[in-house]
Amino acid sequence: MPYYVTTPIYYVNAEPHLGHAYSTIGADILARHMRQRGEDVFFLTGTDEHGEPVARAAEAQNTTPQELADRNAQRFKDMMPLIDVSNDFFIRTSDQPHKDEVARVMQRVYDNGYVYEGMYEGWYCPRCADFKSEHEMGEGHTCPIHKIPLEQQSEQSWFFKLSAFQERLEQLFADQPEWVMPRHRYNEALSFIKGGLHDVALSRAKLSWGVPLPWAPDQVMYVWFDALLNYLTALTYAREGENLHDRFWPADVHVMAKDIIKFHAVYWPALLMAADEPLPKRMFVHGYLLMGGEKMSKSLGNVLDPFKVIELFGSDALRFYCYREVSFGQDGAVSTEGFETRYNTELANEYGNLASRTLAMIGRYRDGVIPEEPDETGLEEDFAGAADELSTRFDALEVTAALDDVWSLVRRLNRYAEERAPWQLAKDPERADELDATLYGLAEGLRVVSILLHPFIPQSTTKMLAAIGCEADASSLATAEFGGREGAGAGGRKIGELPQLFPKLEAAGD
Ligand code: MSP
Repeated sequence: MPYYVTTPIYYVNAEPHLGHAYSTIGADILARHMRQRGEDVFFLTGTDEHGEPVARAAEAQNTTPQELADRNAQRFKDMMPLIDVSNDFFIRTSDQPHKDEVARVMQRVYDNGYVYEGMYEGWYCPRCADFKSEHEMGEGHTCPIHKIPLEQQSEQSWFFKLSAFQERLEQLFADQPEWVMPRHRYNEALSFIKGGLHDVALSRAKLSWGVPLPWAPDQVMYVWFDALLNYLTALTYAREGENLHDRFWPADVHVMAKDIIKFHAVYWPALLMAADEPLPKRMFVHGYLLMGGEKMSKSLGNVLDPFKVIELFGSDALRFYCYREVSFGQDGAVSTEGFETRYNTELANEYGNLASRTLAMIGRYRDGVIPEEPDETGLEEDFAGAADELSTRFDALEVTAALDDVWSLVRRLNRYAEERAPWQLAKDPERADELDATLYGLAEGLRVVSILLHPFIPQSTTKMLAAIGCEADASSLATAEFGGREGAGAGGRKIGELPQLFPKLEAAGD
């Protein structure tokens, strides 16, 4: 089955920060899990390069928008392999094929009668590139997100007839209770619609950095229309000589934070309806990473640099921390102290240490060969159905709960090691069978949890699986059955070297 997942495309007015990494890692976890299920996955991320946010940042830095876009798009592109993001394509909205396709789709919207010319007057935030209604603005005509004064603008523009979609959008929400997830975000978007939809400006006369309107090239398209269309346009040119539209559209899930819910849950379906395109299946709206109680954002200056965090902790630790600490769908505070604690107690101790101790014991007591599967280990019940339960969690987009479930199994293995105390069993030759069963249980348990954890921490789980001769298992969830299917378990395999998965922080940091 095709599975198409996207992240927002990020503004190139600034460099990437941990907030951008968070969304992208979330989408990556979904993509990797779906690939493990054998689905035909297309995972898109990229950069949003037009419009006022970028034009103004370029002006402030005495450079051209294109130069600024080139520089910062490269920073976002470079971040992807560093955080082990497995995107299938990276779209830049300054790509010519994107612009050509945007013009084609918007011409269709125009031909279908959803565009007219008028005069725009209102309050505008140049950082959000958004016109704010009275109830969307902060005190004294300020932007509640960026805390800057809004600008009163008045200009001749073209309008999109959003109001024409009032009923169809209400119907969409009624028909598809999972259209926006989690539920409180669905309610938020629906109440925006119920408040009454107004037509929105579709073009900017005073700006030249954008895609010209095909029917009036003296104006450029309002950046949000150009940006939203990336989800559709990317499919037309991501693979040379191939149009992936029919294979992957409609998208399965658009991942984003709550700042851009209105555009995705309201404008986007209306635009697609106006262009006669099918609608995506779901949106997942996560919360904000907070630092010092505020949304982490470049303009507020309270950002953690993901590049620095990776240098210090490694990419797996970053991915793990983000999704264990900040529940997917909720706001959550992050801090360097928090990183250190989770790193030391959970990754280094509960997973890394368990793995190295287990392999060391197999080396010492069984000449490096994992004992064959016994009749019973005492772990079977705890592991029964784990892969199916994980899939159910993922189907409901409960990414953090999925990780919590797997982590309970990691903890179960730690308790198992303590209860069985294989180092004691090894002292008594009469208990050799028990020792075999215990070592097998630990190795097999580690094999299964490593497959389940692979979408979250791909590097260390790959190393762990390789060390027990099961590297290929990472690519298939079907292999994550305790005991293995048709001899696919860990029993009888020769172990190899396992590098230290999560070195002590002092060593990594200094
Ligand atoms: N360019 C638009 C999106 C267009 S999508 C068609 C935009 N760009 S942005 O650079 O401002 O990125 C916003 C997105 O970055 C958020 O929706 C979220 O995915 C991510 N985040 C930015 N800061 C974040 C946090 N502090 N916490 C969590 N996610 C954050 O809006």
